Amino acid sequence: MTVKTVATTPFEGQRPGTSGLRKKVRVFQQPHYLENFVQSIFDCLDDFSGRILVVGGDGRFHNRVAVQTILKMAAANGWGRVLVGQGGILSTPAASCVIRARGAFGGLILSASHNPGGPDGDFGIKYNTGNGGPAPERVTEAIHDRSRVLDRYRTLEADDIDIDHPGRHLLGGTIIEVIDPVAEYAALMENLFDFDAIRALFAGGFSMRFDAMNAVTGPYARAILEERLGAPAGTVMNGTPLEDFGGGHPDPNLVHAHDLVAALSGAGSPDFGAASDGDGDRNMILGRDFYVTPSDSLAVLAANATLCPGYAKGLAGIARSMPTSGAADRVAKKLGIPCYETPTGWKFFGSLLDAGRVTLCGEESFGTGSDHVREKDGLWAVLMWLNVLARRRESVAAIVKAHWAEYGRTYYSRHDYEGVDADAAHGLMERLRGLSLTGTRLAGRDVALFDDFAYTDPVDGSTSAHQGIRVVFADGARIVYRLSGTGTEGATLRVYIERFEPDASAQDTDPQIALADLIRAAGDLAEIKARTGRAEPTVIT
Ligand code: G1P
Ligand code: ZN
Repeated sequence: MTVKTVATTPFEGQRPGTSGLRKKVRVFQQPHYLENFVQSIFDCLDDFSGRILVVGGDGRFHNRVAVQTILKMAAANGWGRVLVGQGGILSTPAASCVIRARGAFGGLILSASHNPGGPDGDFGIKYNTGNGGPAPERVTEAIHDRSRVLDRYRTLEADDIDIDHPGRHLLGGTIIEVIDPVAEYAALMENLFDFDAIRALFAGGFSMRFDAMNAVTGPYARAILEERLGAPAGTVMNGTPLEDFGGGHPDPNLVHAHDLVAALSGAGSPDFGAASDGDGDRNMILGRDFYVTPSDSLAVLAANATLCPGYAKGLAGIARSMPTSGAADRVAKKLGIPCYETPTGWKFFGSLLDAGRVTLCGEESFGTGSDHVREKDGLWAVLMWLNVLARRRESVAAIVKAHWAEYGRTYYSRHDYEGVDADAAHGLMERLRGLSLTGTRLAGRDVALFDDFAYTDPVDGSTSAHQGIRVVFADGARIVYRLSGTGTEGATLRVYIERFEPDASAQDTDPQIALADLIRAAGDLAEIKARTGRAEPTVIT
């Protein structure tokens, strides 16, 4: 085996976002494309010689090829040991867990999250640091800068490693350890949640469906729900990771997780339903004929956290992204703990979690998590719900309705206009930015605050501007506009609408009806139809 230095030329646009470098599979299949990016990452890190690197992905098309490339490059670059998930598999939260549990220097996660997979689909790679979280912006910027001037990379001429069986191999001077992708993650879950109570719940006839959407959480859900917790076989649907996710769109929402939604409707359907996305960090929670919004899920979990052994001592604080509803704020207030409002994106939670300021965090976009790892975690949210259900022995709907009765209900909806003309979308936002609405009246309400959300991280003082335009009304209702930072075609305009309803007798309305006047005002104010040509949103959640 010889180390080889390969001459190369830079590619355009190897700029990783917070979710890493995400491109079409065909882009990643170009000779040297992945190699250049991986070498750019390695070149930007402090001395890692002899240290541990964790490698794994969501199993999508190109995952196995990319893993072999990375193993050889890691060996040629002097890593001490590489821990790779069997079959090249590691869910994003499991990778974060292994990085932390093994004291690794960092990890490479291969995923394009909920984006479709297959030869015509998307692929992605990101670097996570030793705390288990995505690399901060200064690191991703350095990687991008490096990728623009890179003229060589190091690899090893060697046969492929057998990654399909647990075991150890020596590659050059580097130990390659093929690990069970589930074991360490499952052990962590067992520490946090009352597995005995959940086992008793299933033994008593409680039924659930977990939709892995043909993506990475299948093996995790089978091992934890069916094998350890005794849920009957068949509880996990679409549980075998497929390279193209069965042609589906592995995003757990009411539109894409239609199999699950159908399974949870009608008398006699299961008590509880949940789904996760391509790489296992998102979650959707359902009861029988009942949908729990992610914002409500965060609030309910926070209010019930002490029922779970891992959170029995209480929460240090809660964090939510700005567009997430204010439901969690009311729980924090009652608990007498701080609630932080951060810009969209999980990276803003990292510093609060590292500093011990918050224990739970969540986003309206089906992301929930805690200080146990530094990524959002789909299966963790499902297990926390199961722990709460096992201790309270009430239905999902009953628990959420009791929560509304106690704290009031926040009606909430997000309207997405996908694939709109980018210039039109930017023009719409620019025009909004130029308005001055504070103190005026809109939709029969007083506008108490109108701004473009800016954030200063309370731990490190870093600032982030232009994080979304907010119209906050005196009665607490809110309209938020932002453009997606993850879309790949044109621009996606997201409009978030919410209203607080304290009166328990007025809490049983469809959110689209309860929010109708605000939805209309949001469209009129931004001139959505005139500027985008769209009369209706593409997706409503
Ligand atoms: C979307 C979600 C955001 C989430 C991100 C990554 O980003 O809205 O909450 O953190 O995906 O999963 P967006 O496309 O809105 O920029
Ligand atoms: Zn994801």
